[in-house]
Amino acid sequence: MGKVCIHWLIMFLGLLGCSVLGEEGLGVNWGTMASHKLLPKTVVQMLIDNGIKKVKLFDADQSTMGALAGTGIEVMVGIPNDQLLAMNSYERAKNWVRQNVTRYNFNGGVHIKYVAVGNEPFLSSYNGSFLNVTFPALENIQNALNEARVGDSIKATVPSNADVYYSPESNPVPSAGIFRSDISSLMTQIVDFLAKNKAPFTVNIYPFLSLYLNPSFPQNYAFFDGGATPVADNGVQYMNVFDANFDTCVSALNSVGHGDMTIIVGEVGWPTDGDKNANIANAYKFYNGLMPRLAANTGTPRRPGYIEVYLFGLLDEDIKSIAPGNFERHWGIFRYDGQPKFALDLSGQGQNKLLVPAKNVEYLPNQWCMLNPNAQDLSMLGDKISYACSLSDCTALMYGSSCNNLDANGNASYAFNMYFQAQNQNPLSCNFQGLATVSTQNISQGSCLFPIQIKSASPFRSPSVGFAVTTVFVFVFMLLL
Ligand SMILES: *[C@@H]1O[C@H](CO)[C@@H](O)[C@H](O)[C@H]1NC(C)=O
Ligand SMILES: *[C@@H]1O[C@H](CO)[C@@H](O)[C@H](O)[C@H]1NC(C)=O
Ligand SMILES: *[C@@H]1O[C@H](CO)[C@@H](O)[C@H](O)[C@H]1NC(C)=O
Ligand SMILES: *[C@@H]1O[C@H](CO)[C@@H](O)[C@H](O)[C@H]1NC(C)=O
Ligand SMILES: *[C@@H]1O[C@H](CO)[C@@H](O)[C@H](O)[C@H]1NC(C)=O
Repeated sequence: MGKVCIHWLIMFLGLLGCSVLGEEGLGVNWGTMASHKLLPKTVVQMLIDNGIKKVKLFDADQSTMGALAGTGIEVMVGIPNDQLLAMNSYERAKNWVRQNVTRYNFNGGVHIKYVAVGNEPFLSSYNGSFLNVTFPALENIQNALNEARVGDSIKATVPSNADVYYSPESNPVPSAGIFRSDISSLMTQIVDFLAKNKAPFTVNIYPFLSLYLNPSFPQNYAFFDGGATPVADNGVQYMNVFDANFDTCVSALNSVGHGDMTIIVGEVGWPTDGDKNANIANAYKFYNGLMPRLAANTGTPRRPGYIEVYLFGLLDEDIKSIAPGNFERHWGIFRYDGQPKFALDLSGQGQNKLLVPAKNVEYLPNQWCMLNPNAQDLSMLGDKISYACSLSDCTALMYGSSCNNLDANGNASYAFNMYFQAQNQNPLSCNFQGLATVSTQNISQGSCLFPIQIKSASPFRSPSVGFAVTTVFVFVFMLLL
């Protein structure tokens, strides 16, 4: 084929890609493990403003669902792992479906398309805690959907970590993919059941974790820009770990007789802080390599074409568990306050533009808490920093993070400020026995941001309510005397 011809073909495929993406679209994960949450209606407006037409949730929170109603946004609702045991009762599963699915199934309601049964329940680090409860929960939920006559359009699926499959060391290529041996019969049952119900297999794929967990992992293989030594597999050259991992999944499904099952990528993304490889530059590089491929429906060598993908995640979540690593609180394509972190063109057209930020976000006043420059006795400083950090997010101070180069005073100020903001700038929370003081000067240093928290949508006791309650108490106490 001549050069011109290829050019036309690419243009044709490109046009095809655009129109298909328009219909199918890109999804995002909306997690809510934040101390100060944006209002659900603010987040939904962000989705609309950025043309995001699909969202994956980790629960079925009523206020979230209320904000999504009438928008036409496609929703995957979720059942958390700690609810799976309860769903082993068919009556409970039916109640769940009634309260969290069919209730919203009306004109102007919520466009629910999937129910995520558990979240990575077979993760090796859970030590098998959810092995016995996940499949019965999946069966009950799908059967309840079927009984409620919505099973044709709403499918239950189990979002799995990519650690449910692997390629053996003797033949480490995607075409050799199989399910993990400790769960292979369970995965066979699950995949058979999904197939019977025409439901998709959902897997979370994290090139970042490949790099994080293996110091000798080739850096370029985590991204989409080439430059890595290709992995050859039966005449196919794998240039990046995303394709290789996805195709290992295809092979694992094939090994249990369902090589044609639809695969959804439930989570994929790159964090921006909390590790030496988690930064804005790498996240930019990753997403701006991924987006054009998705838009062009490039697919993978074994599955060319459209892939349904949910980015992880929408917003930073400052109270997520950091057991897997300090980066856990920094997965957002937006910051905690709905501000975009880096240029990202979700349409995949490669335009160097920022996402549309959240609108009408209310911040606390421009006040920071810092180490008191006049403090004399610093002997308690270490303890006070530990205390502040135990009740707020200091992950940006850690090795490889954006604030790791602060000096000892900077560290103290950072910790004090994070605590002060977490406490909604309560003046009593910026004292630390005289070690701390409030400043109206922005004390951010270089690329290390000392944030101002937003006014929280989640209820907290405001000082005025506290005052009123105290007054009533004092009054009643005086009457008693
Ligand atoms: C519906 O979902 C919500 C939020 O995840 C949960 O708290 C509630 O228990 C669910 N309802 C039922 C009947 O299980
Ligand atoms: C799994 O087992 C390890 C080692 O025994 C333990 O440290 C960890 O806390 C366990 N995790 C869970 C979720 O039970
Ligand atoms: C799961 O069930 C098997 C067989 O009934 C049992 O041996 C095992 O202890 C159970 N595992 C858990 C984590 O409950
Ligand atoms: C600041 O805190 C971080 C994280 O605790 C630590 O790694 C670093 O050494 C501290 N810097 C100084 C100068 O104490
Ligand atoms: C404080 O300064 C930093 C960088 O110097 C800036 O990014 C941030 O927006 C400022 N914060 C406020 C509230 O002005």
